[in-house]
Amino acid sequence: TGTSDFVVVANRLPVDLEKLPDGSTRWKRSPGGLVTALEPILRSNRGAWVGWPGVPDVEVEPIVEEGLQLHPVPLSSAELSNYYEGFSNATLWPLYHDVVVKPVYDRDWWNTYVEVNRRFAEATAATAAQGATVWVQDYQLQLVPKMLRMLRPDVTIGFFLHIPFPPVELFMQLPWRREIIEGLLGADLIGFHLPGGAENFMYLARNLLGLNTTRASIGTRSRFGEINVGFRSVRVGAFPISIDSSGLDELARSRAVRNRAAEIRRELGNPERIMLGVDRLDYTKGIDIRLRAIRELLEEDRLDPAQNIMVQLATPSRERVEHYVRMRSAIEEQVGRINGEYGQVGHPVVHYLHRPIDRHELIAFFVAADLMLVTPLRDGMNLVAKEYVACRSDLGGALLLSEFTGAAAELRQAYLVNPHDLDGVKNTMIEALTQDREEGRRRMRSLRRQVLAYDVDRWAQSFLSALRNGR
Ligand code: G6P
Repeated sequence: TGTSDFVVVANRLPVDLEKLPDGSTRWKRSPGGLVTALEPILRSNRGAWVGWPGVPDVEVEPIVEEGLQLHPVPLSSAELSNYYEGFSNATLWPLYHDVVVKPVYDRDWWNTYVEVNRRFAEATAATAAQGATVWVQDYQLQLVPKMLRMLRPDVTIGFFLHIPFPPVELFMQLPWRREIIEGLLGADLIGFHLPGGAENFMYLARNLLGLNTTRASIGTRSRFGEINVGFRSVRVGAFPISIDSSGLDELARSRAVRNRAAEIRRELGNPERIMLGVDRLDYTKGIDIRLRAIRELLEEDRLDPAQNIMVQLATPSRERVEHYVRMRSAIEEQVGRINGEYGQVGHPVVHYLHRPIDRHELIAFFVAADLMLVTPLRDGMNLVAKEYVACRSDLGGALLLSEFTGAAAELRQAYLVNPHDLDGVKNTMIEALTQDREEGRRRMRSLRRQVLAYDVDRWAQSFLSALRNGR
């Protein structure tokens, strides 16, 4: 492997190392939107990807895979627990998601976060060619832009935050708030999903660090804010991420998926309506809210348990972080309770899987579902909402979507709900389940126009062209 003109830096590599029972290892493609989004651009640019290989305490050599260079950054178990489980996912994750649970502020975690960010910056500095473009991803690596700029002033640096950037009053809780803002300001362009996040960041640069900023309000994919940092100017903008819409649309139209969707309906006992939830098992996703809504609707006799079936697919996530452990128990108790009270032998009301779901199987569930329930308390974007829409070329189905997702800014024709308002969620569920066919088709047509026009390719291109044109 040599140096590259285009380098992506993310906590995870696009492949995960898998340890087999016999002690040997092999690479397994990690699914996820980011890989699909960036892979074509990376390949055509002799690109490189710097990231953690997904298991601690292994040293792996860089590999070249079909023209794409992978540069693994090793992490020890102790670093994983302080930097990933601790600072990234028990401090930053809850803080940036509106303090849905209480963030933990731990000085050892912070110190490890700094060290690990430095290791990522050094690995990137060794991988980037003279004058390269480097694109740093997400909340785990917010110090990398500044660290990398010190090591390599010649490279162009972009940063994109995949989760929400919080309101200023919440961000101010962070004991290391200055360091984080300064870390990000090492970039030439900082991207957020929504104009609001970008504006919060501008406010902090101005009021916390006393920097000069333009006052211009920020637009989506246009009208960037500007911050003067010494002799440099850092631009800030909103770039809502998306999915491989046409690829998904095509898969969902395939005979194999259609057949499987029909089979799923039969396996569920041919109910009148299937409701679906698909999430990483995370307390920000509001899985408990939709289960509560269903239980109350059953209690009030507004849902017939024989004809309305819920399927909740939950991917295991961050299983060693305490809040995730507790959330899992709470959800499993709710599922058990609903089935205990309203299910029949052989006919549960809620079907719940806690395991990774095969991509084709997932698409078949999207095609089979009459109502997709997306109810996060806060979510940077929520790609599941967009994926459901991309799979419904039949214009069937309905999307119930939390206002507190980034996706809600674009998917205005969804059934929008405030997830904190349980009665509102319940009433909207009934409205969506009983919508007339024409109304449903009208809404889905408009949602599809949005999702098919703004796909992930457009996201990457608009960010990268803004990054390159700005220098
Ligand atoms: C969110 C984050 C990503 C992260 C993903 C999966 O989408 O924005 O950075 O990779 O969750 O979480 P994990 O902790 O398993 O990487």
